[in-house]
Amino acid sequence: MKSKPKSTKRLVTGVKPSGFPHLGNYLGAIRPAIELQNEYEEAFFFIADLHSLTTVRNAAEHREYIRGVALDFLALGLDPQKVTLFRQSDLPEHAELSWILSCITPFGLMDRAHAWKDAVAKKLKDPTVGLFTYPVLMAADILLYQANIVPVGKDQKQHVEIARDLADKFNHTFGETFTLPEPSIPEEIASIPGTDGTHKMSKSYKNTIEIFGAEEVIRKQIMGIKTDSKAVEEPKDPDTDTVFKLYCLIATATEIENLRDKYLAGGFGYGEAKKLLANKYLEYFAEARQKRIELTKDLGYLDEVLATGAQKAKKFASQTLTTVKKKVGLLL
Ligand code: ADP
Ligand code: TRP
Repeated sequence: MKSKPKSTKRLVTGVKPSGFPHLGNYLGAIRPAIELQNEYEEAFFFIADLHSLTTVRNAAEHREYIRGVALDFLALGLDPQKVTLFRQSDLPEHAELSWILSCITPFGLMDRAHAWKDAVAKKLKDPTVGLFTYPVLMAADILLYQANIVPVGKDQKQHVEIARDLADKFNHTFGETFTLPEPSIPEEIASIPGTDGTHKMSKSYKNTIEIFGAEEVIRKQIMGIKTDSKAVEEPKDPDTDTVFKLYCLIATATEIENLRDKYLAGGFGYGEAKKLLANKYLEYFAEARQKRIELTKDLGYLDEVLATGAQKAKKFASQTLTTVKKKVGLLL
């Protein structure tokens, strides 16, 4: 079968290395991002390790998250032949363009950004300048590569719009320079429920099931899913149960039907259902988990991928920065 021709538009996206991925992240963000590698001829994925500096305060932890994100993506199927994978901090161009852009950024535009307003509303202890100007650095990330399309979650849409506003302002002030980027928000993926049965799965609710955690940890997280208190003999409603909902996300149609029948028939306890889910979960991620173990054994390979990625990215980034410097009069 002939595959669909790839889009010639350029795609850029970043992932902030600030934690370990869970099922919600995978289905809501990682898998859709990886799928795009087959649709675009030019795709840049980077680890936004200058952005994570706004929150991570421990160097050893930071290193682990940075490597971790790259390993997660590679293990889950990102192909570095199709996508340029690199670290933001390997290219000083990001910070340099960020400063230049900050000099044309209206203070009010930052002050109105949702993420900043949320931080202020939550009375975040010691809000920093870095957090305030976070969207300017993100604009630099996008504009350096003259990106057309920026896949992001809903929460980041406004930041891409800010990048577009800054590109437009720069073009009007100094002459046509930047491509105007557009956000691409993946189709609404139903919010994956957390193990507490109440909130969406999220690190901030501590109700997650990790993807690469130790098997015992994953089993414990799954065995801890909240259910109602129906006795083993009683028939159960699959459609309101979190164990069943999670099973539906990773099992085949026949497996789902079989489990539905067991719920409706009674004589089948939640403990059994959880064991079934845990086994399925470990089977579903078995290949990725094994691949991540292999990748971890040879970090030299990862460093090579990131170095090659940085080299490729540099060609684009330095070209744009030179143009920008000419436009603003920094190149004499
Ligand atoms: P967390 O809520 O655990 O801190 P992040 O805010 O880092 O997760 O989310 C990263 C991306 O993962 C989000 O942009 C979102 O698209 C996706 N995501 C996170 N939690 C879920 C969920 N429960 N269901 C679907 N997608 C999710
Ligand atoms: N701010 C994004 C987040 O928190 C990560 C990010 C940084 C990004 N730079 C970017 C995403 C550029 C897309 C494009 O998830």
